[in-house]
Amino acid sequence: MDAPRDLPADLFGNGVLAAPMAGGPSRPELALAVGGAGGLGFLGGGLKTPQVLEDELRIMESRGGGRPFGVNLFVPATQEIDRDAVLAYRERLRPEAKAVGADMPEPRWADDDAYPAKLDLLLTHAPAVVSFTFGTPRWDAVEALKKAGSFVLQTVTGPEEAAVAAELGADALVVQHPDAGGHSGAFLGLPPFQGTLPELVAAVRAAVPLPLIAAGGIGTPDAAAAARDAGAAALQLGTAFLRTPEAGTNPVHRAALASTAFERTAPTRAFSGKWARGLENGFMLRFADAPSAYPVVHHLTAPLRAASVRAGSPERTSLWAGTAWREARDEPAAAVVHRFAR
Ligand SMILES: Cc1cc2nc3c(=O)[nH]c(=O)nc-3n(C[C@H](O)[C@H](O)[C@H](O)COP(=O)(O)O)c2cc1C
Repeated sequence: MDAPRDLPADLFGNGVLAAPMAGGPSRPELALAVGGAGGLGFLGGGLKTPQVLEDELRIMESRGGGRPFGVNLFVPATQEIDRDAVLAYRERLRPEAKAVGADMPEPRWADDDAYPAKLDLLLTHAPAVVSFTFGTPRWDAVEALKKAGSFVLQTVTGPEEAAVAAELGADALVVQHPDAGGHSGAFLGLPPFQGTLPELVAAVRAAVPLPLIAAGGIGTPDAAAAARDAGAAALQLGTAFLRTPEAGTNPVHRAALASTAFERTAPTRAFSGKWARGLENGFMLRFADAPSAYPVVHHLTAPLRAASVRAGSPERTSLWAGTAWREARDEPAAAVVHRFAR
């Protein structure tokens, strides 16, 4: 094995990153707490308007004591959507919406049309770290971000995607294993990696000469050590932070993570049209064959998910969680950072 490829210590602190978690959990309070504890906090720019993202950037800049933080963006899909499959799925969802008194919206066929504006914001604010998932940005965006002073991360799920990201000029990679909570960042349409997280890290390490950040299913210091031993320079934890008081996790999601009623996590496309791992509920079982149509399905299920949460029910909402969810605790974010710090 070659020498460890390190990340700049002034940016990555003690090597614990709080994963960007769009849809609520990531918010400035969490990112500030993680940064204050010596880790790297993240804002999730996905699913947000440019205005909300800008407000959050300003909070980080005014209250973060100049400490580095990261911002993540979803790269809009270029994939063709099967409209008939979406319309058929929409009909099947009607009774689900009705059951919680939610509207069934018209399909929104466009992906995130705010992406260019959010990218511009990042070029202006130049946060210390910028990460991308769901796809790769254009090479000129990577170059411009680096020129503005940001360190650029790309999420990959295997050696083939790692090679694409290296070619693009990413400074380092977030290597995401299928055990990860939330959406998969896979962008080449390849089958999920077969093997453990340390095996995935080793495979990516053999493919590209970049520093690696391991993510997915890390719930114990032993799992963290195994990822580091395989060559990861840092860790990105998501689920471990979901129950911290600083996270914006909704109460239904929080209660489900603490409940003994859920037996396992599973990958599903039922909520968003893109594979994501969450606690398995009835909705996931009923719609195991949901179409591949992100973010059209995300918008279709948004009202019924929100209504399920308002009703206090975990039955028709996404409960994103990695396979190590049982290790997550009700504890301050700083305690999570300290437990996993190098
Ligand atoms: C609730 C939730 C939301 C997430 N949202 C994002 C996101 O906005 N951007 C991103 O790159 N990854 C997102 N992820 C994935 C994380 O970056 C990371 O890969 C994952 O949390 C690691 O696995 P773990 O949850 O088992 O620690 C999310 C994960 C969760 C649990």
